[in-house]
Amino acid sequence: MTARDEPRSGEAPWWRDAVIYQIYVRSFADSGTRGVDGVGDLPGITSRLPYLRDLGVDAVWITPFYTSPQHDHGYDVADYRDIDPLFGTLADADTLVATAHDLDLRVIVDLVPNHTSDEHAWFRAALAAGPGSPERARYLFRDGRGPADAPGSEPPNNWQSVFGGPAWTRVADGQWYLHLFDTTQPDLDWRNPEVGDMFADVLRFWLDRDVDGFRVDVAHGLYKEASLRDQVLDEDPATSEPKESMVARTLRDEPMWDQPEVHDVYRRWHEVLASYPGERMNVAEAWTQTPASMAKFVRPDEMSQAFNFSWLLADWSAQAFADVVTGTFEALADVGASPTWVLSNHDVIRHTTRYGGGPAGLARARAATLTMLALPGSSYLYQGEELGLEQVDVAPEDRQDPSWLRHRGATGEVGRDGCRVPIPWSGTSAPYGFGPGEGQPWIPQPADWASLTAQAQTGDDGSTLEFYRRGLAARRGLPATTAESVRVDVDGDLLTITRAGLRVLLNCGESALPLPPGDVVVASGPVDGELPACTAVWLTGQ
Ligand code: GLC
Repeated sequence: MTARDEPRSGEAPWWRDAVIYQIYVRSFADSGTRGVDGVGDLPGITSRLPYLRDLGVDAVWITPFYTSPQHDHGYDVADYRDIDPLFGTLADADTLVATAHDLDLRVIVDLVPNHTSDEHAWFRAALAAGPGSPERARYLFRDGRGPADAPGSEPPNNWQSVFGGPAWTRVADGQWYLHLFDTTQPDLDWRNPEVGDMFADVLRFWLDRDVDGFRVDVAHGLYKEASLRDQVLDEDPATSEPKESMVARTLRDEPMWDQPEVHDVYRRWHEVLASYPGERMNVAEAWTQTPASMAKFVRPDEMSQAFNFSWLLADWSAQAFADVVTGTFEALADVGASPTWVLSNHDVIRHTTRYGGGPAGLARARAATLTMLALPGSSYLYQGEELGLEQVDVAPEDRQDPSWLRHRGATGEVGRDGCRVPIPWSGTSAPYGFGPGEGQPWIPQPADWASLTAQAQTGDDGSTLEFYRRGLAARRGLPATTAESVRVDVDGDLLTITRAGLRVLLNCGESALPLPPGDVVVASGPVDGELPACTAVWLTGQ
């Protein structure tokens, strides 16, 4: 056993109050060892781990790096037990994990159990074997509906893909298969025991390679209601496209989301994780309707954590933030799980931009982050937020997200490329130290990022990077606390969170508020005798 494997004596498991940094593998760092392709890779990540240790995070979550045709940039897995040559080799993955552990960083990998790639050996076999075969029974193949003169010519039900358009695609012999996402991402049939057995093996494969945990993709989607009944659609008659956003659609009460059987899967995985030394964990990406339905995923014998998307979806308002905090605490109290907080990830608009963009958006984003870092539980950060990056307006011809490519603007959504632009590390022009060569990386970087590089911000006290470093260092100094001992107050635009020895004040208004007496531990912006608009501060004393 290594020191990392030994339970922290008398302390809660590491992940209950960790800061976890999400790495979007294509866009973090390109080592150039795989050729000059403008795409990030595993050796690139390994080379930047010291930066993350110095930033002050506890763990990294790395988006899928497995063999994949990359139609959904890795969320379409062709082989769960190997690395895509674009990103490196299994030896590179081992080096990454070992280097991270040497630096006292944990490693969480991404698991995609809802669907495979259409290039997965199982799907190829399913196509070859034909209707009624055991190979097809691993996926959701069905005969179609249709009028008497063209039976089977229409999809089996009216389900829409999250990326737009029908969720069914017809194959040469006339059957249809379900894909809640892209056509190249066929959904597995979790009612088939072979599927569960395969994923239990995949978990062991990566646990044997010493990873510390898993982020579980579409954790609320694995089981579909057995009837496959139609969903309630709210389409724009002009375009036949759903009126609601992609996120809103996944939050509805629908026959493809949040079915009760899914919890048996997480009970089984709980046992698998518990059979390994150390404190292995998993975290659910579950877009559930309420904090109460989220809490079901983190019952004591299920998942360790679930992303708290209510925090990310909350408006910029003291009352809205307070409601999410208290609602989260209440929902989790019954199951004893630790809360999580997240403001940005690779699927949503960066929070600087959500909060209005420009200097005010950045001020609000920093203030929301500092508030989050004081809350009990784990905080998930998304690469580039520590540099204050904004959502980039990627030109239509440069967009690569399948959720854009499937409809090319028909829904009014521009896709998710704007939060996936490669990280600027240094220098004054693209690729800003992201990788070797002079050219643009896989998504072009803006021309005005020179002042946002990690290098340019290092040592500048007013920079967002140095603010994150201060905030994370201050968080490490906080005594442990629990939700029960935290008080949440709202007074107009002022949110106050009181926890052991610390008061956190967040001014969501447009004018300065008086700053109560106390010693400033860290602030999200300049604080001089008063608490300016869009600013948060941690105070001790008094
Ligand atoms: C999750 C991922 C997203 C991906 C989808 C399909 O929501 O976060 O990036 O497109 O699942 O795998």
